[in-house]
Amino acid sequence: MTTLDRPLRVIQWTTGNIGKRSLHAIIGRDDMELVGVYAHGADKVGTDAAELAGWPEPTGVTATNDIDALIALRPDACCYNPLWPSIDELVRLLEAGVNVCSSAAWITGGKQTPEDQERIRKACEKGNSTIFGNGAHPGMTNMVGMVLSGSCERVDEIRITESVDCSTYESAGTQTAMGFSQDPDTPGLAESVRRESEVFAESAAMMADAIGAKLDKLTFDVTFTPATGDSDLGFMQIPEGTVGGVMGYHRGWVGEKNVVSVGFNWIMGRHVTPPKPLEHGHVVQVFGLPNMRTVLHCLPPKDWTEPGFMGLGMIYTAMPVTNAVPAVVAAEPGIVTLKDLPPITGRYAG
Ligand SMILES: NC(=O)c1ccc[n+]([C@@H]2O[C@H](COP(=O)([O-])OP(=O)(O)OC[C@H]3O[C@@H](n4cnc5c(N)ncnc54)[C@H](OP(=O)(O)O)[C@@H]3O)[C@@H](O)[C@H]2O)c1
Repeated sequence: MTTLDRPLRVIQWTTGNIGKRSLHAIIGRDDMELVGVYAHGADKVGTDAAELAGWPEPTGVTATNDIDALIALRPDACCYNPLWPSIDELVRLLEAGVNVCSSAAWITGGKQTPEDQERIRKACEKGNSTIFGNGAHPGMTNMVGMVLSGSCERVDEIRITESVDCSTYESAGTQTAMGFSQDPDTPGLAESVRRESEVFAESAAMMADAIGAKLDKLTFDVTFTPATGDSDLGFMQIPEGTVGGVMGYHRGWVGEKNVVSVGFNWIMGRHVTPPKPLEHGHVVQVFGLPNMRTVLHCLPPKDWTEPGFMGLGMIYTAMPVTNAVPAVVAAEPGIVTLKDLPPITGRYAG
């Protein structure tokens, strides 16, 4: 473990829903120095980070799509929040010695092909760098589950359920990939949702590892509920009869025992009744001796001024990644997970 006595040089990779919250936090921290911003969209190239993050004064750092130029800045870390992650990009960053903290479909890397996992491991070795994935769910929810299991003499199952109306999460790409607005009878839809949500299986495997359960298999089950009317969400439509509710779990098994489950009970729009009532939060259950249960709610503080609450969920997703930067920079090279790092905390506002 190494600790640096200067602000960490950080680059922000994309500034979408989550990335712009991460960028805002980086600009505001005195233990981090924003040195670069990567933009996927050509329209953002050349724009000051302050404008992209909604920060009041210019930073003098402008977005670029030139990866070599970003690497030449010799950043300590990259907060990596693209819509779709790229192994090629990750390898370039890691082998150049840039530690990566990702919200983009990465917890253990277990869903990647063995070849891609090997590429990542080799890149970390070459660059003496570390990759870490986190977020709200997966991420914080799994951490809370693992911590709660510490109250039990015996753990039978850790089960995490995101039980929310996700209409306010305005990422049409992500939502369509999860089945919403599609014909529920689309051949292969369940398999496509399994693949798209496979990072939850990675987080289930991480929790199993944490409690010392050696998994024999991972499975996925899902129920699609059709909408009973049309919903116009602005950023996408959920027409009547198309998928308006998706409930599913990635489950890890030891023999016939389901020991870890990570899933979702999601609806979008007004016209759907989910198989189980929504709890408007992350339901974390540990079954064992004793049973433990909590629901995480992400709520507005008194000084919240944005219209709507989507931004809160985005901050909740971004911060477990951004706040991990110091611990990830200090970690051993390679793939690390929440199970390996010291607790990741937020920063006192001062
Ligand atoms: N663990 C969790 O709790 C959790 C929760 C929600 C989301 N996530 C993940 O976090 C990541 C970011 O989510 P988001 O809601 O911020 O996504 P988003 O706003 O829809 O997209 C993020 C950025 O990705 C870039 N982008 C757009 N099209 C792309 C493409 N075809 N290939 C690569 N990049 C593209 C754009 O960058 P520019 O802005 O630079 O043009 C965009 O702003 C996703 O991978 C998502 O699955 C994790």
